[in-house]
Amino acid sequence: MNECLIAEFPLHEGKTVTIKGWVANRRSSGKVSFLILRDGSGICQAIVERETFAGPYEEIKKLPLESSVIASGRVVAESRSPGGFELHVDGLDIVQKSEEFPIGKKEHGPDFLLNNRHLWLRSPRQIAIMRVRDALVRHVREFFHTNNFTLIDTPIFTTTVGEDSSNLFSLDYFDLGKTYLSQTGQLYLEAAIFGLGKVFCLGPTFRAERSKTRRHLTEFWMVEGEMAFFEHKDNLELQENFVTYIVQNTIREMADELTKLERDIEPLKKVAPPFYRVSYDEALEILHKEGSDIQWGSDLGGDDETIITNLFDKPVFIENYPKKVKAFYMKQHPERPECVLCADLLAPEGYGEIIGGSQREDNYDVLLKSIHDQKLDPERYGWYLDLRKYGSVPHSGFGLGIERTLSWICGLKHVRETIPFPRMLYRAYP
Ligand code: 4AD
Ligand code: MG
Repeated sequence: MNECLIAEFPLHEGKTVTIKGWVANRRSSGKVSFLILRDGSGICQAIVERETFAGPYEEIKKLPLESSVIASGRVVAESRSPGGFELHVDGLDIVQKSEEFPIGKKEHGPDFLLNNRHLWLRSPRQIAIMRVRDALVRHVREFFHTNNFTLIDTPIFTTTVGEDSSNLFSLDYFDLGKTYLSQTGQLYLEAAIFGLGKVFCLGPTFRAERSKTRRHLTEFWMVEGEMAFFEHKDNLELQENFVTYIVQNTIREMADELTKLERDIEPLKKVAPPFYRVSYDEALEILHKEGSDIQWGSDLGGDDETIITNLFDKPVFIENYPKKVKAFYMKQHPERPECVLCADLLAPEGYGEIIGGSQREDNYDVLLKSIHDQKLDPERYGWYLDLRKYGSVPHSGFGLGIERTLSWICGLKHVRETIPFPRMLYRAYP
């Protein structure tokens, strides 16, 4: 038995092979059945002819979709067939005859599909998105490793609020009281730069946000970089190079999948340094011209971001937000103490924020005051404040949301399709 993957068919042309997979589609007549088989590596058309087939043809003829099978036959080049090859089947074992599959060709609503996410993951669109996700994450890791970063795995249980105390998932931690699910690995990355210079983490993060938008998940994956001796300007340049690297490599490698998703990649090909830089104040001017009545000191909402990004053909940094709408750790602007040295990176085509980043406050006293001002408990930040006592340096970092970035690359309307099992305000099943 010469077992192989469908993806390996080009190496086996003319030979007899065995493949293991599922019936993704079927068209049958009294004499011949055309099965589309899927094995995880690809799809192929398998032809079963009653005349030459050794087994019970009648069973194959009515084989339900998603039945699992082991098929043997000859690999024949056929340019019209998906993948460019066909399997002329002489033996086919049914591993399990499927019950009627709930997801069919007709349109299903999002709730139905999400309730059946465990089955929906088999559909061609979802397979394509998961492949793009895999490529994206691989290129993210590659970028950091080729730029002298060291991976630091940061904890998920934490007692230090990283971002915003209003959206924490908390739980009882034995006799120690409340701990939280991490919103960010950043604070711990900051500790690691003193030994390793440039570090990154990639893992799940949690936000108990009561937002029901197309951009929000309660559990999402974030990649974060943190760099010693790095100022705001250096931070933006690194992010430009990083985003360009992951976008260009992913669209090059995943061209077939993106075609399947009907994503026009021309706008993505334009992603190259330099990105646009717009100050928060300029962003407000733009919004006012577009009819918004946003006041200085408010954070930009999703709709504001959509308006701005529709005006630019490349990603845009919005720099120097008011201190009061950003996290406590951001470095105070040297000329404008009411602002911080930070930037959000907004993806074009209406997608909005994919990165939040900043230079960090490296002065002990200013940081302590910020902690007090934001009504955080300084006791819990003892270790974090320590970092400003022993060889403090200018340092900066950023965090990129994998799902938002993937939804931009794939051209999806909602982040819920970018993660295998989405967790949202009203969904924790399956
Ligand atoms: O802007 P955020 O909150 O920044 C941080 O957490 C910093 N500590 C990062 C750092 O400087 N190391 O989140 C970063 C990114 C956002 O730009 C967005 O892409 C994503 O994480 N994100 C979410 N994605 C999906 N659902 C949510 N609820 C998200 N919240 C943030
Ligand atoms: Mg943010």
